[in-house]
Amino acid sequence: MQGAAIAQPNIALIKYWGKRDLERNLPAVGSISITLRELQTRMLLDFDEALREDQLTVNDVPDQKMLPRLSACLDRVVGEDRMRAHIRSECNFPIAAGLASSASSFAALTVAAADAADKSLTRAELANLAGAASGSAARSLFGGFVELENTNDGIAVGTLTAADEWPLSVVVAITETGPKAVGSTEAMEISRKTSPFYSSWIDRQAADLDAARTAIIERDFARLARVAEHNCLKMHSVMWASRPPMVYWNAATMRCLETVRALQARDVAVFFTIDAGPQVKAVCLPEYETEVEAALRAIDGVRKTMVSGMGPGASRGTFG
Ligand code: DP6
Repeated sequence: MQGAAIAQPNIALIKYWGKRDLERNLPAVGSISITLRELQTRMLLDFDEALREDQLTVNDVPDQKMLPRLSACLDRVVGEDRMRAHIRSECNFPIAAGLASSASSFAALTVAAADAADKSLTRAELANLAGAASGSAARSLFGGFVELENTNDGIAVGTLTAADEWPLSVVVAITETGPKAVGSTEAMEISRKTSPFYSSWIDRQAADLDAARTAIIERDFARLARVAEHNCLKMHSVMWASRPPMVYWNAATMRCLETVRALQARDVAVFFTIDAGPQVKAVCLPEYETEVEAALRAIDGVRKTMVSGMGPGASRGTFG
């Protein structure tokens, strides 16, 4: 019994931060993201009767830390009485550093598991299963601009606008390559329990989602830039005001923001967004990609840049 899949991380423009149901991993707010193309996770599953425990390698290195979450995800897709599996994951970008590696990993794992178990699940069902493992993973089942909405009992996810209908570029400035200090799951709970700004963050999300959705449908880059930057800074304000405070930024993160502001002052169509890590993602119109990449690469403390267009949702895939 084998299954393989490929999935791309997604970058949230309107962020998911906070859970309304911890056990089912349901988000407290809706979110809007773009799915990337060049950054990828490939996942190969090999169910084996002789195995007593699941085994995981990430880029050929055995990994125990992520294994319980991956095993639980396999249980949900295949059933708890399943055979144990060799799980092989390959990622072409830094893991657990705020680059949404969990989104592409769980999206790929969900699709590979359904493939191996020969389950024909709809994309909506796959998104719900991936979201139960990691909220942002639900969005990587879809390509282009993706909206995740809260429904009464769960989530509904779908593409708002396809990647080729309004292609944007993302330049990722990597300012640190190690894993982050506090993972998103734990950090969200600290925010919910301690941040004085948490409830207003939740209350104002619907307005940001509306503004971003309209901007996307109308291809209004300036409007999307304004609401995405504001939403990102609000999420980080929630974190900064938590106890203990969670500040994911470093000095180079701040220098990247200054550079994006300088580019904007020269009428370059670009905006920044930052997730639970120190990396800065600069989203721009494709014609500015080279200029934005060169400006970010030149910053002291930026170790590496990665450039990506927008891509499709997770799919079954071969593994080479
Ligand atoms: C800041 O999806 O990693 O990237 O559901 O606990 O696994 P869990 O959280 P996760 O959180 C992502 C948070 C974010 C914003 C976003 O992607 O929307």
